[in-house]
Parts: sequence; C-alpha cells; structure tokens
Amino acid sequence: FLEKKKVLSMCKSAVAPAADGGLNLTSTFLRKDQCETRTLLLRPAGPPGCYSYTSPHWSSTHEVSVAETDYETYALLYTEGVRGPGRDFHMATLYSRTQTPRAEVKEKFTTFAKSLGFTEEGIVFLPKTETCMEERA
Ligand SMILES: *[C@@H]1O[C@H](CO)[C@@H](O)[C@H](O)[C@H]1NC(C)=O
Repeated sequence: FLEKKKVLSMCKSAVAPAADGGLNLTSTFLRKDQCETRTLLLRPAGPPGCYSYTSPHWSSTHEVSVAETDYETYALLYTEGVRGPGRDFHMATLYSRTQTPRAEVKEKFTTFAKSLGFTEEGIVFLPKTETCMEERA
C-alpha cells in the first residue's frame, strides 16, 4: 500500500443492505485510466457491525468491522485477514460522506489507526479527485 499510495486517490463507495442482512459495498476507483468498480458482499458475522467476505480471487477470508460511526457523516472500519493467504492483512479505513471530512473526524481516524498499531507513515489521507466520482444514472 505504501508503494502504491503515490498513484492512489480517494475512491467512491456505495453501501446497500443485502438480503442476508449483510452489506453490498461497491467501490469505484481509477485504474489504468479507467473507472473500475468492485463489489464486496459482506456477510453478517455475528455481532452487529461485524461482517466477513471471502475473496474469490485469493480464497482469503477477511473480517470487516465497523468500529465507530455517527450514522451520518463517517464510519471507521477495520479489516483483517482471518483465513487463507491474506491472513496478515490489516487495514483501517475512514469512510466519509464527503471528500472533506472534518479535522475532528480525521483525528479520530488517526487515533483509531494508532490504537491498532499503525504508525504515522502507515496512515495516509489520499488526495481528493473528481475522476470516477459522478453519480451513476
Ligand atoms: C451490489 O450493488 C451493485 C451497485 O449498486 C449492483 O450493481 C450489484 O448488482 C449488487 N450486487 C448484489 C449481489 O446485490
């Protein structure tokens, strides 16, 4: 991630409830000059706010938990690999309704990430972008 961050920018995600009580998380981002869309189907994994997904590509299972949210403007998520080749995977993510989260929310995220063991260099706020951000019809 630290290698790739130079070419990354923010991406847009849409979250919708899925029939099984999970979430359909669809993200759109720029890759090789094209807008790509990827859908993660998060299955409910017990406690409220906890989900899991299995990557068809890597056959790794990841657990995703919503650590904190105000239900309006932001959510802090933690993703970790629990089975398969991606077992060492750890990621904390800030989801924001806009590309300009309040300073207070960014601080919350930094504190959250540090509490999980991420260092200053591992915490990145990607640049804003207009690419691939338009609403889909
Ligand atoms: C998930 O959401 C995307 C975007 O709204 C949609 O295209 C896709 O069909 C949905 N997938 C499922 C399994 O609901």
